[in-house]
Amino acid sequence: MSQINQSGRKTSAIEVEDLTVSYGPVPALLDISLAIEEGKLVGIIGPNGSGKSTLMKSMLGFVKPDVGAVRIFGTDVSNVKGRVAYVPQRGAVDWDFPITVREVAAMGRYSYRRWWQDLTAKDYKLADDALEKVRMSDYRGRQIGQLSGGQQQRVFMARALAQDADILLLDEPFAGVDAATERAILDVLEDLKNDGKTVVVVHHDLATAAEYFDLLILLKQRLFGFGPPKMILNPKLLGDVYEGTLRVFAELEKQGAED
Ligand SMILES: Nc1ncnc2c1ncn2[C@@H]1O[C@H](COP(=O)(O)OP(=O)(O)O)[C@@H](O)[C@H]1O
Ligand SMILES: [Mg+2]
Repeated sequence: MSQINQSGRKTSAIEVEDLTVSYGPVPALLDISLAIEEGKLVGIIGPNGSGKSTLMKSMLGFVKPDVGAVRIFGTDVSNVKGRVAYVPQRGAVDWDFPITVREVAAMGRYSYRRWWQDLTAKDYKLADDALEKVRMSDYRGRQIGQLSGGQQQRVFMARALAQDADILLLDEPFAGVDAATERAILDVLEDLKNDGKTVVVVHHDLATAAEYFDLLILLKQRLFGFGPPKMILNPKLLGDVYEGTLRVFAELEKQGAED
């Protein structure tokens, strides 16, 4: 759904302008500006506490900026809520109450219904198709709380897919999952991109970042870099952001190998 703005340029899927966000006295994000074109697969990287989740929540309109703004297809996210799907960080949701896998996937359809409207057969069909895509059809009738973390992650993906949004935001979908789930999620992300969707993923693993993403956002409170992985994953830039930690990891690995 490309749109052309008044100056004749294509409207960005996501535009972040001069964004500063604080929870307390120290800003979690400081003066971030970037624009993401439609149809890109984008990774957000940076150390713990660097503001990755906060940037994602800003794109969703969940946190209010001190300064600046985020625009989704040229407008405030509140105007285009159904077009943005979100898969939260694992552990952010506690699944103690009884709800089946199929019901969770079908929740993706509620953005198209008023609260008093029941979901239709078509909604459930879309939920089932989404479960098929993440290879969780066999678990349709299971309680979500009975699944492993990786399986729950795939069901969340299905919920986002059922929503049929134009933008998908995923917070660390690969954290702690097994290889099969990692592959399943990555396949889905690539399919989405091939369908022209814009996908933004908080990612913790630098080793796979270049392989998985078209563009990387490197954060530590400020924006340290935004561009193709080749440009972002250079030792100087990573050294500035991760400070001593990368060298420490390299040392540990070397020691481990010598043991
Ligand atoms: N709800 C909150 N209340 C107070 N401080 C928060 C809250 N959420 C995040 N922070 C702080 O904001 C900073 C950025 O956090 P976050 O965006 O979660 O980073 P990341 O996802 O990169 O680990 C951290 O210092 C964190 O402690
Ligand atoms: Mg986070």
